[in-house]
Amino acid sequence: MNILVVGSGGREHALGRSIRNSAQTQKLFFAPGNAGTLELGENVPLGVNDFEGIKALVLEQSIDLVVVGPEEPLVRGLVDFFKADELLQKVAVVGPSAEGARLEGSKDFAKQFMLRHNIPTARYLSVSAANVPEGRAFMQQLAPPYVLKADGLAAGKGVLIIDDYEEASAELDRMLGGKFGAAGNTVVIEEFLSGIELSVFALTDGKDYVLLPEAKDYKRIGEGDTGLNTGGMGAVSPVPFADKDFMQKVEERIVRPTVAGIAAEGIDYKGFVFFGLIKVNNDPYVIEYNVRMGDPETEVVLPRLKNDLVDLLRAVGEGRLGSIRCEVDERTALTMVLVSGGYPDAYKKGFEVRGLDKVKDSLVFHAGTNSKEGKVCTNGGRVLALTSFGPNIEEARALSLAAAAQINFEGCNYRKDIGFDLIH
Ligand code: AMP
Ligand code: GLY
Repeated sequence: MNILVVGSGGREHALGRSIRNSAQTQKLFFAPGNAGTLELGENVPLGVNDFEGIKALVLEQSIDLVVVGPEEPLVRGLVDFFKADELLQKVAVVGPSAEGARLEGSKDFAKQFMLRHNIPTARYLSVSAANVPEGRAFMQQLAPPYVLKADGLAAGKGVLIIDDYEEASAELDRMLGGKFGAAGNTVVIEEFLSGIELSVFALTDGKDYVLLPEAKDYKRIGEGDTGLNTGGMGAVSPVPFADKDFMQKVEERIVRPTVAGIAAEGIDYKGFVFFGLIKVNNDPYVIEYNVRMGDPETEVVLPRLKNDLVDLLRAVGEGRLGSIRCEVDERTALTMVLVSGGYPDAYKKGFEVRGLDKVKDSLVFHAGTNSKEGKVCTNGGRVLALTSFGPNIEEARALSLAAAAQINFEGCNYRKDIGFDLIH
């Protein structure tokens, strides 16, 4: 098969690696890819939202299967675009329709969906210009801190957690006033849940699903979970506190009703579902849905998956997931993300990345890199994800630390404490 991966991060490099490992893969393309994906296939300089460009590439290269990494093209209707085009209809696309992608693209839609299907989540109220007093009254009923979420996509910045009522109330006005643009025309006010978070992933064909390994990611820039939020500084899989009993609750109360809800509502959804969960007193609640894989979670989830990924992706398109079982490597996978100095605030790009060939015992996934005159250069905030296996978290982390010590680029920064909280 000829396969296209849409996207350019560590997630897409990890997807590409697993796809390349399948004997079924002939040509592999990335749009636009990075310096790492160049070693697996061909990079085509297209934006992820360039539907016409993607169409031309798919037709020109006889691509049979498209895997969409990021959420934005899904929310904008890439799958619907394929369905509506006579020439593209027969191409399998892994990703939900725009309607399904609303589970990530609209927090209000996601909350209503959970309410309809009795899926545990924080209490909430959706507020727009029309019901601000009701919003304030709802906030007053809640105990601080107050959670305010812009309804639409806001590049991961649309969630505010504020201790003080007056400040939260003023922030509500600013959000409704356009702080996050149209994404904040509706604001979801939520009850704060206190617990530990984890990411659970399913792949669904719209009626059946397979559960992939779970993971925990580390969002803050600083060690000990301090400082600003980032796209993710590292991840670990499996997650020790997600034991069999807990994962059974996750499946029964969350995953199964979600997929059943998608089917019952006639939503066209053939793709990944990412459940952002929080464990409160041993019970799982949904913090958010995403309609794609996580990054950097993919860099630990897929290396643990023993199945031929192309088999799974084909089964999605053909509605055969019900007959497939996932085989998982029991070892611990840990990834450590090397970022540009200054990230997640302003940072410089274009520094040469040295020492990549010295890494032998870890997988090197490229995120923000590009290739310039044969050299690998930094091209984003998150530059590389170094994934290692071990019998436990400590040993996997030691390998990723050793790999990180081999690599250098100006301003390189990373967290040395990935997985620490799970064992101390
Ligand atoms: P989201 O973009 O919805 O994942 O929110 C970003 C982060 O805010 C989450 O990963 C949580 O750490 C936190 N968060 C969101 N909603 C809540 C909530 N209801 N209670 C506690 N923390 C939350
Ligand atoms: N690591 C979290 C995400 O991909 O949204």
